[in-house]
Amino acid sequence: MVSACALFLASVPAFASLVRGDDGFDYSSLSLREVGARNTMDWRMWFEKDGQPISPWHDIPLYPFAGNESIINYYIEIPRWSDGKIETKRNEPLNPIFHDDTDGQPRFVASVWPHKSYPFHYGSIPQTWEDSTFELPFTGYPGDNDPMDVFDVTSIGEGYVGEVRQAKVLGGLAMIDDESTDWKVIVVDIRDPLAAVVDTVADLEMYRPSLAQSFYDWFIYYKVIRGKGLNHIVGNDFQNATFMSHHIAESHGYWRNLVRGETKVNKIRINQTSNPTWCKSYIPSQEAAAAFDIPAESNVLPPAERPAKYDRFYYLDTDFATIDVPGEVIDIE
Ligand SMILES: *[C@@H]1O[C@H](CO)[C@@H](O)[C@H](O)[C@H]1NC(C)=O
Ligand SMILES: *[C@@H]1O[C@H](CO)[C@@H](O)[C@H](O)[C@H]1NC(C)=O
Ligand SMILES: *[C@@H]1O[C@H](CO)[C@@H](O)[C@H](O)[C@H]1NC(C)=O
Repeated sequence: MVSACALFLASVPAFASLVRGDDGFDYSSLSLREVGARNTMDWRMWFEKDGQPISPWHDIPLYPFAGNESIINYYIEIPRWSDGKIETKRNEPLNPIFHDDTDGQPRFVASVWPHKSYPFHYGSIPQTWEDSTFELPFTGYPGDNDPMDVFDVTSIGEGYVGEVRQAKVLGGLAMIDDESTDWKVIVVDIRDPLAAVVDTVADLEMYRPSLAQSFYDWFIYYKVIRGKGLNHIVGNDFQNATFMSHHIAESHGYWRNLVRGETKVNKIRINQTSNPTWCKSYIPSQEAAAAFDIPAESNVLPPAERPAKYDRFYYLDTDFATIDVPGEVIDIE
């Protein structure tokens, strides 16, 4: 039987024309298709390229500059100072962005003084996968089955959900979450003047004193308000930039095996529109909306109300335990 992918190969001669610049990807052709009301479980945001749906996870390249593993692409899920727990829907075709839930309700993250919600732009690194099929030797835990997470120390831009940025890797935190490895890669947007003078977390200290420690602590305690325990970070410190870049490259390899169909898929849709030779996951983007029943265009509804309890600050003691003031009700989840 002639395989479907051979036919796809023949029908996409235009693929090569997308190649542009040294990263081979035209970033200006990206747009977003937003459907539904924010702060609801039905809300979705699909990525588009040339007006057709793609997967942000599988179709945006990892490296914007070929051969330079210290600069990566990432896409914002949670812009700085916002609190909706926005994530990549790994088990829906083409992996739209959605609002994660707690017990069926949209989840928000409390502001723990002195930080307002997420104190940095937070997102995912495309074409990486924290392989959940084996224990990572460095941490002793399997990956969390998601793309790698990133947080950006830049002061640049308000940022918006779905924004694709280029950033320099400074290091990372090997966080353990629910018995799985959940790397948090620390980066700085390459447009930030800081990026030219800072290569490591240690360099950051000169220009942004105590910022790294403050963000490190944030990752340890951010679930405490919801009644969860402290998160653990392997090594109790940042890993260096070289080590982090190495792990990103490695997780790019895990991702490649995944979309090639060589790794067991668990609650992940691997459909991608970029590489016809990876037959098991490939679908031409022009066919994706119909095949996957993706809405043909944006249809943004007014946002649902966000619970007022997230407007307040919460306070922790030096052991990161919540501080109760007599008569005050701590009422998150
Ligand atoms: C990667 O890009 C950065 C920023 O432009 C540059 O400083 C560095 O030398 C580059 N590294 C390689 C290996 O090309
Ligand atoms: C980076 O971290 C790795 C792992 O801890 C270590 O082996 C390596 O020596 C470190 N490199 C630098 C430049 O500190
Ligand atoms: C999407 O990918 C799955 C494998 O995860 C495959 O079985 C399915 O046929 C793909 N769908 C399309 C329309 O290509």
